[in-house]
Amino acid sequence: MTPTIQADAEQLAQAAADFITAQVRANPHLSILVATGNTPMPTYAELARRVEAGDVDFSRATAVQLDEYLGIEDDDPRSLWNWMRRSFVEPLGLTRTVRLHSPGQFGAAIRDLGGLDLAILGLGPNGHLGFNEPPSPPDAPTRTLALTPASLESNRAYWGVAVPAGAITAGMDVILAARQTLLLVSGAHKRGVLHAALRGPETPEVPASFLRRTALTVIADEAAWT
Ligand code: F6R
Repeated sequence: MTPTIQADAEQLAQAAADFITAQVRANPHLSILVATGNTPMPTYAELARRVEAGDVDFSRATAVQLDEYLGIEDDDPRSLWNWMRRSFVEPLGLTRTVRLHSPGQFGAAIRDLGGLDLAILGLGPNGHLGFNEPPSPPDAPTRTLALTPASLESNRAYWGVAVPAGAITAGMDVILAARQTLLLVSGAHKRGVLHAALRGPETPEVPASFLRRTALTVIADEAAWT
């Protein structure tokens, strides 16, 4: 599988917004797993502009939380729910959401939805998806876990202060069962891991490598691929 290559992060956001817009137009009840992180933010901002302009309507779609830190309140600035709410749920006008509180609650909620239609994902510098850190096999379930030193460091960069050492993540099994997966990758620092994910062996050491088993669309900028 070869990614769709865009000139830069701005063009990437346009292409990703086009893809997501088409999906929700085809199925207004789309259930969407929503990554936070830096990569999809320009895409979400572009979607918000389109909603504002009346070009697309997310009001009947459902936003599903991908991951969260343990032991912090919703109003903590580091809360990933908070980030998802500010960047996606509110600006796009979604009224239906599924929070990730516990594996049992989450599994039941996904079943009630009839599964996920679309997973919007970023690529961790170590190949992680959500907080499915290496090694994560394809059947890794929704679970709580301790973050690796690499992820603690990259997550600290978002807020400039330490993040909790524990997290909960949607499982690899949930992500890989999504009817469509969309992986967004930007920047030269992701080039090595993107090539490993798409061209290397499928391995728990690069959890994103298992996305090739799914109906996968990868949109990357030139810096991340060429
Ligand atoms: C965020 C998440 C993470 C990020 C990944 C890439 O909800 O689950 O897996 O998608 O760490 O982060 P950025 O986009 O900041 O490089």
